[in-house]
Amino acid sequence: MTTKKLYIRTYGCQMNVYDSARMADVLAPLGYVPTELPELADLILLNTCHIREKASEKVFSEVGRLRPLKQAAEAEGRRLLIAVAGCVAQAEGEEIQRRAPAVDIVLGPQTYHRLPELVRRAEGGERGRGLVDTDFPVESKFDFLPEEAEGRGPAAFLSVQEGCDKFCSFCVVPYTRGAEASRPAAQVLAEARRLVAGGALEITLLGQNVNAYHGEAPAQAAGGPASWNLARLVRALAELDGLERIRYTTSHPSDMDDELIAAHGEVAQLMPYLHLPVQSGSDRILAAMNRRHAADDYRRIVERLREARPDLALSSDFIVGFPGERDRDFAETLRLIGDVGYAQAYSFKYSPRPGTPAAGTAEQVPEPVKAERLAMLHQLLGAQQQAFNQATLGRRLPVLLERAAKHPGQLNGRSPYMQSVTVAAPDRLLGTVAEVEILESHPNSVKGRVVAAPQPAAASAA
Ligand code: SAH
Ligand code: SF4
Ligand code: F3S
Repeated sequence: MTTKKLYIRTYGCQMNVYDSARMADVLAPLGYVPTELPELADLILLNTCHIREKASEKVFSEVGRLRPLKQAAEAEGRRLLIAVAGCVAQAEGEEIQRRAPAVDIVLGPQTYHRLPELVRRAEGGERGRGLVDTDFPVESKFDFLPEEAEGRGPAAFLSVQEGCDKFCSFCVVPYTRGAEASRPAAQVLAEARRLVAGGALEITLLGQNVNAYHGEAPAQAAGGPASWNLARLVRALAELDGLERIRYTTSHPSDMDDELIAAHGEVAQLMPYLHLPVQSGSDRILAAMNRRHAADDYRRIVERLREARPDLALSSDFIVGFPGERDRDFAETLRLIGDVGYAQAYSFKYSPRPGTPAAGTAEQVPEPVKAERLAMLHQLLGAQQQAFNQATLGRRLPVLLERAAKHPGQLNGRSPYMQSVTVAAPDRLLGTVAEVEILESHPNSVKGRVVAAPQPAAASAA
C-alpha cells in the first residue's frame, strides 16, 4: 500500500476536533498518514463549522486559497483531493461543489464512517453529486469506526452524545448535527480505557448537550436502569485506573440534574470547572431564544453547584444583539454576570442563520449596537477572568502539562480550573500532572513554577 498524505484543518467546536481525529482513523487503512503541510497533501479535509456567518465564509475563502495547490498538483500529474466535512457541509450540501468546483467530496458529521468509500471513488476519478453524503443514517457511525490509530495525548476528547433537540431559536446545531443521540456506556468506557492506555490522564466527555446523556447501560449492569445518565457515566469513568481528570462539555442548564450536581461534590476526578452557557440574563430574551429556563433558574443551579463544590469555576457563552434585545435586556445580562462571577466566558454577536426561527424576526438589532454591547461584555468578562487568575496567585495547583510552550524549556498545561498555565520544565514532564505554584497572572493565562514533579510511576502510565 502506498502512503498518501492527509492534511486536516478543523474549525468550530471540540466535537469537530474529535471528529477530525476519527476521520484520520477511518482513512488510515487506505494508507493516509497525517501531514502538517497542505502542500504535501494528497487529500485535504476541511472540517467545518456553521455556527456563525464568519465561520462558514471562512471555509469558502479557504477553498479558494487551496485551488492553486490543486492546480499545481495536476500540473505535476498528481491528484489532490479536497473534501469538505462538518456542519457547513451538512447545511450546504451540493451547493458547496457548485460554489467551489475544486471540492471533490462533501460529507456531513453523521456519515464519516463512509468517507473511505467516497475517497476511493474520488481517487478513481469520479466527480460530482455522487460524492456528496449528507444523510442522517439510521446506523450510528460509531459502530463502524476502527479503533483509534494512535493515542490522543495526555488530554483527550471523547464524544458521548451528539445532536440536539432543544431548537434554540438562533442555533443551527439541531439541523447540522441532527437529533439527540447517546453512545452506549460500554462503548464509551471501552474507548476511555484505550485512551488511558494510550497516555491520556484527562478525558473531556463531549456532546452538544452532554448532560442530556442517556446511553444504553452496559450488559453486566443487569437489574440496574436501562440507561445511564451523565453522572453515572462519570462515576464509572472515575473507577478507571490512571484516569486522573474528567471534564464534560457543553451542558444545557435545564439538564443539570441533582445527580450530576452531587457528582461535582463527590467525584474527586471531576474537575472544578464547568462551561454552562446561559446566552442572556433577560427572561424576555431567554424566552424568545427558546432556552426553556429563566435567569433565576440559572442563578439557582449555579448556587447549588457551588454548594456541592465551593471552588467551582464557571464559564459561559453569551449572545449580544439577539433580535428584540433592548438596553434593559442587556443590562440584565450584565447583572447576571455580576452575580455569577465567571472564571472565563465567550461572547458573540448574534448572527442570523438561514433556516432558524430568529433569523426571520423583524426586530434585528443594528450592527453598531451589537458592537457596543459586545465591547462592554468583553470588558466585564475580561475583568472577571483577570480577577479569577489573580486570586490563584501564590496557590499550588496540579497542572496537566499538555504541550511544549512557545519558548524552549517551557511547557504549557491546564489547572483544574482550565486556566492556561506556563512553567519552565523539562520535556520529560510532558504528559504528567505537576504541582505548580502560581507566580504571575495575565489576562488569559498564568505562569508558575513546578514545586513537585510526579513520581516516575505516574509518568510511566503514558
Ligand atoms: N450546545 C451548546 C452550545 C452550542 S453552540 C449550548 O446549548 O449552549 C456554541 C455557542 O455559539 C452557543 O452557546 C452560542 O452562544 C453561540 N451561538 C450559537 N448560535 C449563534 C448565532 N446564531 N449567533 C451568535 N452566536 C451563536
Ligand atoms: Fe444550539 Fe440550543 Fe442545542 Fe445548544 S441547546 S446546540 S444552543 S439548539
Ligand atoms: Fe460549529 Fe457544528 Fe460545532 S456548527 S460549533 S462545528 S456542532
